[in-house]
Amino acid sequence: MKISPARIAAFEILTKIERDKAFSSALLPVAEENLEAKDRALCHALTLGVLRRQLYLDRLIEKLSNGKKLDSAVKIILRIGLYQLICLDKVPAHAAINDSVNLAVRAKKTSAKGFVNAVLRRFARENTELDYADEIERISVETSHPRWLIERWTRQFGFEETAKLASVNNETPPPVFRLTAKSDENTLTILSKLGLEIVESDVALNAWKVFGSNEVLRLYAAEGKIYFQDAASQLVAQIVGLKKGESFLDVCAAPGSKATCVARQKVKGKRQNLIVAGDFYEHRVKTLQANCRRQGAHTIEIVRYDAEKDLPFADESFDVVLVDAPCSGTGTIRHNPEIRYFLRAEDFPVLAEKQLLILQSSSKLVKRGGRLVYSTCSLEPEENEAVAEKFLTENPQFEKITPEISGRFVTAENYARTLPQRDETDGFFVAVFEKRRVFDKV
Ligand SMILES: C[S@@+](CC[C@H](N)C(=O)[O-])C[C@H]1O[C@@H](n2cnc3c(N)ncnc32)[C@H](O)[C@@H]1O
Repeated sequence: MKISPARIAAFEILTKIERDKAFSSALLPVAEENLEAKDRALCHALTLGVLRRQLYLDRLIEKLSNGKKLDSAVKIILRIGLYQLICLDKVPAHAAINDSVNLAVRAKKTSAKGFVNAVLRRFARENTELDYADEIERISVETSHPRWLIERWTRQFGFEETAKLASVNNETPPPVFRLTAKSDENTLTILSKLGLEIVESDVALNAWKVFGSNEVLRLYAAEGKIYFQDAASQLVAQIVGLKKGESFLDVCAAPGSKATCVARQKVKGKRQNLIVAGDFYEHRVKTLQANCRRQGAHTIEIVRYDAEKDLPFADESFDVVLVDAPCSGTGTIRHNPEIRYFLRAEDFPVLAEKQLLILQSSSKLVKRGGRLVYSTCSLEPEENEAVAEKFLTENPQFEKITPEISGRFVTAENYARTLPQRDETDGFFVAVFEKRRVFDKV
């Protein structure tokens, strides 16, 4: 019984995601290290492809199995099998079906062998049509987003735009990278000469979209000579816009994408910038340290603390403080497709409370005349505008200022926003507050 290593790896990753609410972005790189290039590509395609179509695949499974209640392992095996039959033209149907049956045996579900075989053969033989109660349900199932999320976004964006957003969330975005302290002036030329198409992003400065992939690109990323980072995330660092000599604290910094991006910005002038980055979780602080080291960002000082409580710095000690707050991540579903299945509507107010607490304690550290930048990778107003407005109401010593970026990202309320369906980036929100130099308490 020989099963392709790619299918075994995809099954194991999807099982961990379902069982432990783990993230594909953390599991895939580890699994892929042990796979050959061909298997790596198939494992990647299977894992993300199934996650991006999970609700649709489950509806098909329900119909093809006449609503039979299924063991989780069997369901995952059927999702992987069906995904190949529907979306992967290059995989012959018999290979997809045979490996699915063998996966059932490997997962000690021998009694389900015949059932897996029958469901997949029935799909390959018949034209299975699904019925929908209404258009919301159609979008929900066809783009595989929970109905409550589609309803919620429809209230915010309208139906047409929500349909576009949900569809864009399932597209594979071209990777975007930037240079690091370890890059040299030939890095872009070398990558282009190796056949990769490199196109400058029109969202953030010095962000590069790359079409194609090769071992050198992988090696460069592993050695820290380039760093993969969505253009909207780079835009947040651009909005921070550190000036010469300014001190900077990145309060919620791990894994360090924005801190290293800020450190990389060429700040003209002789005075050095103090750059401090911290996080709460020990394992995330370790990742932050490793990431800074990998990119050669040696000047960043790293600290561990709980930013919901008092931070270990003197009041008014930083010129610029960034709170890239923990959030629902609904703006990053293109990169993290499983987020949509983990979230519940009740999570948003809980997150908003935490975000406000962190913003509040961080705000004390901002010098008069200094800036406090609040960002999330969420699309939800409760985590964005509502937190910003509440913060301003409770802290009149701060005023909202316009983010210094292209006007196309600035909203009517003077915040910055990127949208996956409009900008081909992750969806970020940014608010910039300035601490008044003179403030008389009333
Ligand atoms: C959105 S992520 C930050 C991403 C990071 N800024 C970057 O660009 O790579 C939010 C971070 O907040 C951290 N965090 C959550 N609660 C925290 C707390 N109470 N104090 C400090 N950091 C916290 C999480 O561990 C997580 O790393």
